[in-house]
Amino acid sequence: MLRPDQIHQGVGDRRVSMEAVNPTEKGKRLAHPAAFAPRIFADTATLDEIRPLKEGGIINGVTTNPTLLKRAGADSWASADKIMKEIVKYMAPYPVSLELTELEPDKMFKQAKKLAAFGDNVVVKVPTGGFGQMERDPFTGLKMLRRLWQENIRTNATLVFNTTQAFWAANAGASYVSPFLGRVADYLYKHDQVERGPGNSLYYMEDHKMPAGGPDVGANTGYVATDGPRKDAGVRLINEIVTVFNNYRIHTEVLAASFRNAVQVTECLLAGADILTVPAPILMGVADHPLTNEGMKAFVEDSKTFDR
Ligand code: E4P
Repeated sequence: MLRPDQIHQGVGDRRVSMEAVNPTEKGKRLAHPAAFAPRIFADTATLDEIRPLKEGGIINGVTTNPTLLKRAGADSWASADKIMKEIVKYMAPYPVSLELTELEPDKMFKQAKKLAAFGDNVVVKVPTGGFGQMERDPFTGLKMLRRLWQENIRTNATLVFNTTQAFWAANAGASYVSPFLGRVADYLYKHDQVERGPGNSLYYMEDHKMPAGGPDVGANTGYVATDGPRKDAGVRLINEIVTVFNNYRIHTEVLAASFRNAVQVTECLLAGADILTVPAPILMGVADHPLTNEGMKAFVEDSKTFDR
């Protein structure tokens, strides 16, 4: 868990200069107490999961990806498009992220335009990097983010694993950046048996040189979450990105993604994430606690004595 002294104190300044998530309607006497709360999205492409969450006022957005679409039953582009369109329509005007799968610039742009045409609330997910095609163009993702920004198409820079990627994506015009905290934790548990300090790296700079004949510099593979234990690494990455964005008043929203449990939800709130996209099963449990149930059971039992 993040310690309070690790949390950047200025996080709130940036939020309040952004659009209110819970604005108070005109004429209402009671102002909404959480005007600048983070937005909560459902990380799913299954409409049956989305419906109760939206109706309950739990979510105000959705993120999808091809894996989630496949899980929702898509087995062709026609069925994937159908599912995406249904979600976009159902969630309007709330944002729905739809992911690019093309890797060549012109094809990416064409696909982005197609997805954006599904509705005004579409946010196009663009992978941040050059997709390992460094000898060709390491800026493929960044250029696409900039091109779509120029076209007034909102983007979500996805698969972000370090603060550098997040900064450059914002600089290119991304509306959201999505650090994948769960995958950071998955990777570290699987590969980094020995905790090394300071900080944790998904890879180490000295392990990754440019291809033979290239300049002798390391690839951008550290995720730069400084210090602290492995299990907190993903959420510290989010806190770092929020801190950098706060330093420069960058209004790109930090969309915490790839959740594995409800504790990470609390950690991301402490870290100052602007948006949390959470799988439906985790969202279904966030308001529960065994002691709440136990306490209420006793209160209900005691209230029954009033009827006698
Ligand atoms: C975010 O937009 C992604 O859809 C998602 O959070 C990926 O998470 P995963 O690591 O569980 O696949």
